[in-house]
Amino acid sequence: MTGVQTEVEEHESREFTTQASLNSDETPSPVSFTIGSRQLPSRYCLAPLAGYTHLAFRRALREVGGLGLATTDLVHATQLVGGHRHSLELIETHPHDRPLSVQIFSGNNDHLVDAARWLETHGYEGVDINMGCPMAKINGQGGGARLLCDADHACRLVERVVAAVAVPVTVKMRLGWDRDSIASPMLAKRFEAAGVAAITIHGRTRQQGFQGGVDLAGIQATVEAVSQIPVIGNGDVRTVEGAQHMRRVTGCAAIAIGRGAMLDPWIFRKLQDVELGRTPREPTPDEQVDFLARHFLLMTEQHGERSCLLFRKFAAWYGARLGVPEDLEQRLRLFTSLPEFEAIIAEIRQRHGERRTPIATALIKVPNGPVERW
Ligand SMILES: Cc1cc2nc3c(=O)[nH]c(=O)nc-3n(C[C@H](O)[C@H](O)[C@H](O)COP(=O)(O)O)c2cc1C
Repeated sequence: MTGVQTEVEEHESREFTTQASLNSDETPSPVSFTIGSRQLPSRYCLAPLAGYTHLAFRRALREVGGLGLATTDLVHATQLVGGHRHSLELIETHPHDRPLSVQIFSGNNDHLVDAARWLETHGYEGVDINMGCPMAKINGQGGGARLLCDADHACRLVERVVAAVAVPVTVKMRLGWDRDSIASPMLAKRFEAAGVAAITIHGRTRQQGFQGGVDLAGIQATVEAVSQIPVIGNGDVRTVEGAQHMRRVTGCAAIAIGRGAMLDPWIFRKLQDVELGRTPREPTPDEQVDFLARHFLLMTEQHGERSCLLFRKFAAWYGARLGVPEDLEQRLRLFTSLPEFEAIIAEIRQRHGERRTPIATALIKVPNGPVERW
């Protein structure tokens, strides 16, 4: 038995699973859209936010409703195939965590191909290649946004991954390395010819990092460059109106929302409501506390007691989002057991809203330094 098999079997013995195809529930609905052979229940997708959009958060979001495709955090292709524990943890999923794609990155084409095959063999239904990450460490190894700099190399890579697996392969990329080398329209066209099933385009260049505004004209140019496949617009959408505006201006088929889903986990439900001609439902105060509690409880299914520690980074966020008084927010940062957590939740139910600070928008750290608006 190989190390990888041993690790995988160890993970499979727990309640969640790496077998992504089990109980797949990609049911057609009036608002569904398709990516290759995949029928997705909504055109509003979750953009990966490494460290935030983990299994528990995805499951809590899906329970709220309206979410189409979710994508895992970026996973190092070499480490995945090598069976590294952290990579296997990142791809852990659950029958209720559908539809899901796994995002892989590497500067080594062979490793990306191997990882795509590995994922297909283990039942995952979609592979997404990261060509947008701006982090120097990843770009230095030839991965992430660095791939935007060599179109031939990127196309060869995409061709090989597409040829290696039967599941739909997608690419998430930026407009280009910098504003003097905008590449996404040309790359999108070539990727479509190479067999990619969809493209997600974050409307910034690598040089921008997360600064400045999203260039809707750049997204539009990418949309117009392809003939059949859906282009998923991405960047700075945090309201229903923002999503509608992006679709109207760019013509994109779908939208991926990252930080906006942290700011408002009900955004997908609201967007679905609008698509179905209903009034978008705002969460009640109780629903908001329920979301916090559910997020943590789902984390404990995966991480057990370690969740108390892992949840700390969300304390400030929920504190501001729910108007949790400062003393309770501080307790959310320090609790060490489930009974303690439950006691805090009971108090939050009684006292939330006591703090009237506006919802902070800069609580999600972005790679490569601060940003103006978030
Ligand atoms: C903390 C953080 C982590 C991110 N991790 C990933 C990642 O793992 N893979 C990826 O393709 N993009 C990643 N992104 C980029 C987002 O998916 C998205 O493209 C970007 O945040 C713009 O969309 P938004 O304004 O809706 O968040 C990350 C962004 C942030 C802020």
